[in-house]
Amino acid sequence: MSKGDHRRINWLDVVWLLFLGGLAVLPPLWNIRKELTLLAIGIVQVVEGRLVERFPRWGRSYAVLLKLIFSTLLIASTGGPGINSSYYPIYYLPVVTAAVYFGLRMTLLWTLLASGLYCSFLYPALQEYELTADAITELVLRVLFFFVAALVVNRFAVENRRQTKRYQQLAEQLAETNRQLQTAQAEARRSERLAALGQLSAGLAHEIRNPLGVIRGSAEMLNRKLEASNPLASELAGYISGEVDRVSVMVGRFLDFARPLHPETSPRPVTELLDRALKSVAEQWHGGKIEVAREYQNDLPLAPLDENLCEQAFVNLIQNAYEAMGNEGGMLRVQVSKVIRNDRPGIEIRLEDTGPGVSADLREQIFNPFVTTKKTGTGLGLSIVSKILDEHHGSIRVESAPNQGACFVVFFPAEEQAVRKEGALASG
Ligand SMILES: Nc1ncnc2c1ncn2[C@@H]1O[C@H](COP(=O)(O)OP(=O)(O)O)[C@@H](O)[C@H]1O
Ligand SMILES: [Mg+2]
Repeated sequence: MSKGDHRRINWLDVVWLLFLGGLAVLPPLWNIRKELTLLAIGIVQVVEGRLVERFPRWGRSYAVLLKLIFSTLLIASTGGPGINSSYYPIYYLPVVTAAVYFGLRMTLLWTLLASGLYCSFLYPALQEYELTADAITELVLRVLFFFVAALVVNRFAVENRRQTKRYQQLAEQLAETNRQLQTAQAEARRSERLAALGQLSAGLAHEIRNPLGVIRGSAEMLNRKLEASNPLASELAGYISGEVDRVSVMVGRFLDFARPLHPETSPRPVTELLDRALKSVAEQWHGGKIEVAREYQNDLPLAPLDENLCEQAFVNLIQNAYEAMGNEGGMLRVQVSKVIRNDRPGIEIRLEDTGPGVSADLREQIFNPFVTTKKTGTGLGLSIVSKILDEHHGSIRVESAPNQGACFVVFFPAEEQAVRKEGALASG
């Protein structure tokens, strides 16, 4: 509840005060103790919300206890002997309050306490009067009705609380689904972007390649023809071939990125490919000492994977991690576990390094082709990984807290049950 809520008039409180005011002007009139007690009950009723908010642990008990005390005082100050007081239904107030706030057991205990307090007025009455059978029946009826009220209200209150909790859980679930949807959307946008860039690259590269061939051939011919007679022209022809070669390499990369992958998948254990990639990167590494910590969960499901493409994807990721840690070296943690993502069972691979990490503004861009922060980088590694994962209906994202290394999280959907059996037959 916000502070503003307290300033608004609570109509329920007003009705309460009217009701208590009504009790105040009914007989016994001019009974100052009775009027004061009614005032106290009114105050408790009005401040109850704040009390419960202020003391989240005990506020409810305080509220019920105060109401019990003032109800008892009211009974004591009305009626000849208290047990005869026509105000006895005032005990419904603490009883119902307890039923609203507590579970069944505590409600029954509070009701028992209220009944006990009410019946305690029997003791002084017995000093003066005889107890008749009718009076006993009346008393038992009154007490039983306390319990009836408590049970009825408690049932509704408990049901109400259960519903509220259900709605809260539903709302939380909805928020979580929303978050997942947003991630999925970002990933879908990325694949669309990469596909469009791929088409553009392929078109461009194709158009550039043919004229490049002609230029290079001509330059070589010129070079050969003019070699002796015109050294300057021959030198210039040499530059032309050299630069054309550089452009050709670039065009080759464009084509690499744009080439359709045509994966051929079969159910395999992902850890096997991961191990192979780890080994091959480590063998070619010239840099600081890098420790690899493997944490593979047992009984991982198989996933439909293209052996070569997936190994290449892992090599690219591991290579990046090694390069990020560079000459200082560090630790690469590789975790593989079973997960359920968007209701799809699958395998999650986390590659966590101790390098400089990826800044937030680069986190999506690094998956674009030709985005690199390295002097001799091509910027193709991650775009190819992303493409490979798209082909496998998987996903990749990077997590990186400030001052911590990068963590690339890869997801592969597990194979369907039917395919698994086939795989088991084929391999067995
Ligand atoms: N493990 C990592 N830690 C920090 N930065 C990384 C990591 N992996 C990739 N990057 C960033 O992403 C960029 C793109 O990577 P990539 O596509 O493989 O191209 P390249 O390795 O040729 O630069 C890198 O230049 C680097 O800035
Ligand atoms: Mg790379």
